[in-house]
Amino acid sequence: MSASCWVITSSVLDNVYKVPRLPQPGESVLVSSIEKFFGGKGTNQAIACARSGAPTFALGCVGEDETGDEFIALMMQEGINVAGMRQSKTSPTGQAAISVQPDGLNQISVYVGANMDMSVAQIEAAGINPDDYVLCQLEVPFAVVQAASHKAKFILNPAPHSDISDELISMCFAITPNETEAKALTEILPVDEISMSKACDYLLARGAQNVLLTLGDRGVYWKSSSESGFFPAPLVRAVDTTGAGDVFNGCLVARLAHGDDFPSALEYSVAAASLSVTRPGAVPSIPTDGETRRFLAEGQD
Ligand code: ATP
Ligand code: RIB
Repeated sequence: MSASCWVITSSVLDNVYKVPRLPQPGESVLVSSIEKFFGGKGTNQAIACARSGAPTFALGCVGEDETGDEFIALMMQEGINVAGMRQSKTSPTGQAAISVQPDGLNQISVYVGANMDMSVAQIEAAGINPDDYVLCQLEVPFAVVQAASHKAKFILNPAPHSDISDELISMCFAITPNETEAKALTEILPVDEISMSKACDYLLARGAQNVLLTLGDRGVYWKSSSESGFFPAPLVRAVDTTGAGDVFNGCLVARLAHGDDFPSALEYSVAAASLSVTRPGAVPSIPTDGETRRFLAEGQD
């Protein structure tokens, strides 16, 4: 029997522009296509969690508009419990402008909109059990993040980067920065196993129980007070890396809630995230449990 996964959602409609290369500051480039996808770190994470088969509860805020209605309908379709979602009367649903170049690398600007209207009261009213897992990112108000950190086993994806207190780090059962977030938090760029280990030590010394550095096409490095390991990403043809970190986080919480140890949960989550970069968009790229297991067994399809 799985513990429940509470995912603090942020919902953002992604406007995705295909460009020949990401523009430099002051440069214009021509866009070859425009597509809209459901996204937002928290929604991507909740859907990854649900598609991995875990009981998933979304807590978040969308606008009282058509896009907000569509986000809630999408979550319900995915089997996510939406009793803790609300709709803001004053702010629209979030949107993002995302440019993607042919090798899948992207540049993202986010208007968070209604996500910032999520309230601490929603966390307090949710009925989170201390044995459950809470996964949170930073596209919601800081007070919400803090409140969530006290409720259950707390996994923090510190993205997009913001300065976070040592007190919040000390609440983390796991913290999952990517390379740039790790550098911003620790002043150490994780380029090799020595610097990866040092960056993890910095966060472990501040009380995080597990540090997971996501390293793009290199995979993930994990360290706790007694164990560490490197989980390489499989070689894939990347077309769009948007949401890869979210897939990793959503799958991780799902597998831990199911009772996996870190090495098994990491093997699964790295595979799912790497599979997601072979497909365009955020939500449409998220694999199901069956797809991830096939990929683990057979390699890229
Ligand atoms: P994003 O902000 O795009 O959602 P992120 O920066 O939070 O992503 P990354 O560290 O880039 O997260 O990627 C998370 C995981 O996704 C990696 O650990 C890896 O498993 C997979 N991944 C990302 N990019 C690639 C790639 N080019 N090839 C294979 N796997 C990849
Ligand atoms: O992590 C990827 C997500 O970040 C995108 O879906 C975009 O909405 C931004 O919030």
